[in-house]
Amino acid sequence: MIRLDGAGVTVSLPASGQARTRVLLHPTTLELAERRIAVIGANGSGKSTLLRLLNGLVLPSVGQVRVHGLDTARQGREVRKLVGFVFTDPLAQLVLATPADDVELSLRPLVRDRSERRAQALQLLAGRGLAHVADQSVYDLSGGERQLVALTSVLAARPRIVVADEPTTLLDLRNRDQVRDALAALEQQVVLATHDLDLAAEADRVLVVDGGRILADGKPAEAIGAYLRLVRG
Ligand SMILES: Nc1ncnc2c1ncn2[C@@H]1O[C@H](COP(=O)(O)OP(=O)(O)O)[C@@H](O)[C@H]1O
Ligand SMILES: [Mg+2]
Repeated sequence: MIRLDGAGVTVSLPASGQARTRVLLHPTTLELAERRIAVIGANGSGKSTLLRLLNGLVLPSVGQVRVHGLDTARQGREVRKLVGFVFTDPLAQLVLATPADDVELSLRPLVRDRSERRAQALQLLAGRGLAHVADQSVYDLSGGERQLVALTSVLAARPRIVVADEPTTLLDLRNRDQVRDALAALEQQVVLATHDLDLAAEADRVLVVDGGRILADGKPAEAIGAYLRLVRG
């Protein structure tokens, strides 16, 4: 369960003379309990800001965000254990040279023994059909493989919630389907930003973000309809 209580995000823009501020997300109150939640909206509407609030990558300037009762501002470390974050560009999160090393790093807090950790990392990669690339440079993987490695790495830490920020935007159709299927199969609660309206339509609930506000929030058909009217008039 994720709760936003009047949570808003404002940044100050460096400007000569008086400081200027910009609202990225207006104070928002939401309870996110559904298993599959999609966030849609134009580029620059505030989707990433909203998603980043959910694991404390961005802290609210006003209000509060709580995940399973934990305050993202005061208990950021614990929150990040609960909430795994998948970025649009997997290279933003794959910090080590090979998939095996990266997944192993995610397992470090959970598995003490080094060789056991290695074995589990290889097993997790094999489970996603990635055994053959386990020791290859992450730079030599296809976009889809890279995103699946990133997802494997995030899941290795056993989060209870997965937040994914446009995880399929950079992928071709086949890779997109693979990542979609992998996300669909997760037991965890998933909150995902996407431009793929077919994917959004499969969610239990869809939030439409526009100009840093929640413009619509409801069943997919209803919310996607509101988004299409917004864009196309
Ligand atoms: N740290 C920041 N400082 C200033 N502006 C920002 C910052 N982060 C995001 N923005 C701006 O806020 C708006 C919303 O950004 P974002 O949440 O990334 O939107 P989306 O993910 O929907 O494209 C954009 O106009 C973006 O340029
Ligand atoms: Mg974004």
